[in-house]
Amino acid sequence: MLILGIDTSCDDTAASVVEDGSRIISNVVSSQNEIHKKHGGIVPELASRRHLEMILPVVDEALARTGMQLGDISAIAVTRGPGLIGSLLVGVCFAKALSFIHRIPLVSVNHIEGHIFSIFLESGPEFPFLALVVSGGHTSIYRIDGFREYVEIGRTRDDAAGEAYDKVAKLLGFGYPGGPVIDALAADGNPGAIAFPRKVIQGSFDFSFSGLKTSVLTHLKKYPHSKKEDVAASFQSAVVEILSKRLMEVAKAEGIKRIVLSGGVSANSSLRSYVKQKALDEGIEVYLPSLNLCTDNAAMIAAAGYVHFINGDMADFTLNPQAYMPLGGSAHG
Ligand SMILES: Nc1ncnc2c1ncn2[C@@H]1O[C@H](COP(=O)(O)OP(=O)(O)OP(=O)(O)O)[C@@H](O)[C@H]1O
Ligand SMILES: [Mg+2]
Repeated sequence: MLILGIDTSCDDTAASVVEDGSRIISNVVSSQNEIHKKHGGIVPELASRRHLEMILPVVDEALARTGMQLGDISAIAVTRGPGLIGSLLVGVCFAKALSFIHRIPLVSVNHIEGHIFSIFLESGPEFPFLALVVSGGHTSIYRIDGFREYVEIGRTRDDAAGEAYDKVAKLLGFGYPGGPVIDALAADGNPGAIAFPRKVIQGSFDFSFSGLKTSVLTHLKKYPHSKKEDVAASFQSAVVEILSKRLMEVAKAEGIKRIVLSGGVSANSSLRSYVKQKALDEGIEVYLPSLNLCTDNAAMIAAAGYVHFINGDMADFTLNPQAYMPLGGSAHG
């Protein structure tokens, strides 16, 4: 069964064809990094305009690479939210039009659910498992008990980890996205050079990254000639330690021995190796998506969409995007 996935939640126009929720036939991502780079972050107006230009060629390319026709597609899965409303609108309207004209069933997917389901495109775990979603807009830990059984155990109270990476990169004079730049710089720096804070919210499994970001700013004001590699490595070691520690605490509290990392920051080399090591010590299995499946893509939307489709969970033409769209229930009550 072939699902066409479409994602335009943020700054990447993405389309993909996936077979049976797990085998990628084609996966096309048109990045807007060059457009937003000089602004030090995503400019929503520019993002939606670019999606409008790219949606048709990207979907065409995803289909052309399979050698199949739209008639071979069983369902169209589209990201409904969360994300930038102007960006989401382009994907949702396009998917609805395609579904209407070609009479192909339509399925709506939560972008965060997609990030988590990216692991099923490779070798996914059995339920239940814990999923750390760590991206440009989110930093949360979910307990995934099954399809549509998602409980948020902890989340950031302020900045997402990816946002902190992007802001620190900007402070160091680099463009958007900052994560890959900091990751590369950190490899040549000393992670113990600067003792940045490792604050967590006591009495919960929540995160906070705004204080860490401010500490980097304060440090750079005081020591403007700091070695960038050391700042990057010290910042990164704080982020990685905060995320890994919390993840292991949640695994212990929930008694779950399977962990999935997902979202753009899960492409981080240090986070991947640190979590792997910590998990090995604790007898926990770690599932890491390939690097190209960590950041935004539509294969993950098709993978999640497949599960909606086989469970009869269809959307209709009243489907509208939602900028704020929490995933599942919350352990916060
Ligand atoms: N190697 C890396 N190390 C750290 N951060 C990274 C790395 N690669 C990408 N990132 C960060 O990942 C983020 C982008 O991830 P993703 O595409 O999943 O986020 P998004 O779609 O913008 O946000 P969301 O999924 O929450 O809506 C950016 O903040 C980027 O800096
Ligand atoms: Mg994303």
